[in-house]
Amino acid sequence: MPALGLGTWHMGESASRRRHEVAALRAGLARGFTLIDTAEMYGDGGAEEVVAEALDGARDRCFVVSKVLPQHASARGVVAACERSLARLRIDRLDLYLLHWRGHIPLAETIGAFEGLRREGRILRWGVSNFDTGDVEELLALPDGRHCAANQVLYHLGERGIEWALADLCGRHGIAIIAYSPFDEGRLLAHRALASIAARIHATPAQVALAWLIARNVIAIPKAAKVRHVDENAAAAALQLSDATLAEIDDAFPPPSHATPLAVI
Ligand SMILES: NC(=O)c1ccc[n+]([C@@H]2O[C@H](COP(=O)([O-])OP(=O)(O)OC[C@H]3O[C@@H](n4cnc5c(N)ncnc54)[C@H](OP(=O)(O)O)[C@@H]3O)[C@@H](O)[C@H]2O)c1
Repeated sequence: MPALGLGTWHMGESASRRRHEVAALRAGLARGFTLIDTAEMYGDGGAEEVVAEALDGARDRCFVVSKVLPQHASARGVVAACERSLARLRIDRLDLYLLHWRGHIPLAETIGAFEGLRREGRILRWGVSNFDTGDVEELLALPDGRHCAANQVLYHLGERGIEWALADLCGRHGIAIIAYSPFDEGRLLAHRALASIAARIHATPAQVALAWLIARNVIAIPKAAKVRHVDENAAAAALQLSDATLAEIDDAFPPPSHATPLAVI
C-alpha cells in the first residue's frame, strides 16, 4: 500500500461542492497519490459516487479502500453492502474492505463474509478500523483472523496512544496501520510548536505532520477538498525529517507514557 492516500469524509454531502471535490481527488491522482479512502457511511454513499467520478479512466492506478458499517456486518449484510459500494464506485473490485468499527455482530461472521468476497474476487484484501489491542487479539484468535491486512485508527502528532502497544501488535502480525484524521480534522495545523518546527525547516505544518507519519511507517490519509491543500500534502512525500527535528517533535508532542483506550472520532 502507498504511504499517502486521499481521505473523503464529508465529500458527497452537497451537490454544490461536488465539482470541487472531484477536482481535488483528480488533482491528487495527478500528483501521485495512489490510494483513496472512502466508506458507505460518508455522505450516505455520496462520497463513493464522488470517488467514481474522480477515478474515471484512472482506476488501474489507484488502490481503493471502502468500509462497511457495523450494522451491515452480518454474513449477508456484508455482501449486499459491498455490492452497493462497488456499484456506486463503478468498479468491480475493492482493493481493501474494512469493518468501519466494531458492532454487535460476531467478528467471526463478518470475517467469514469478507473471506467469501475475497474468494469471489469482489475484494482483494480486508481489514478493520477503530480496533484497540484487545479487539485485534480477539480477531487474531479467530479462524482466518490472521488474514486481516490493515487497522485504520486515529493517529496524529497530538494523539499518539497507539504507540504504547497497538502499533507493535499490528506490526508483528503484518497488519498495516492506516492513520486517519492526520491533521486532527485540521485543528493540529494551528499548533504553535508545529508551526515553528515547520517554519524552521521551510515546510508547512501539514507537510511536517504527514512526513512524521510516513517516518513512523504508517499510511496517512489526509482529506483535502482544495487543490492547493492537495498540492501541499503531495509534497510531504519527499520531506525527510532529520533526527534533530524528530527529537524536537517528540518534545512538543510526547509519545505515550502509559496505556490508554484507543481514541476514536
Ligand atoms: N475509519 C474511521 O473511523 C475514520 C474516521 C475519520 C476519518 N477517516 C478517514 O480519514 C480521512 C482524513 O481524516 P479527516 O477528514 O477526519 O481529517 P484530516 O485529514 O485530519 O483534516 C481534514 C481537514 O484539513 C484540511 N486540510 C487538508 N490539507 C490541508 C493543508 N495542506 N493545509 C491546511 N489545511 C488542510 C482540510 O481542508 P479542505 O478539505 O478544505 O481542503 C480539512 O478541513 C477522512 O477523510 C476519512 O477518509 C476515517
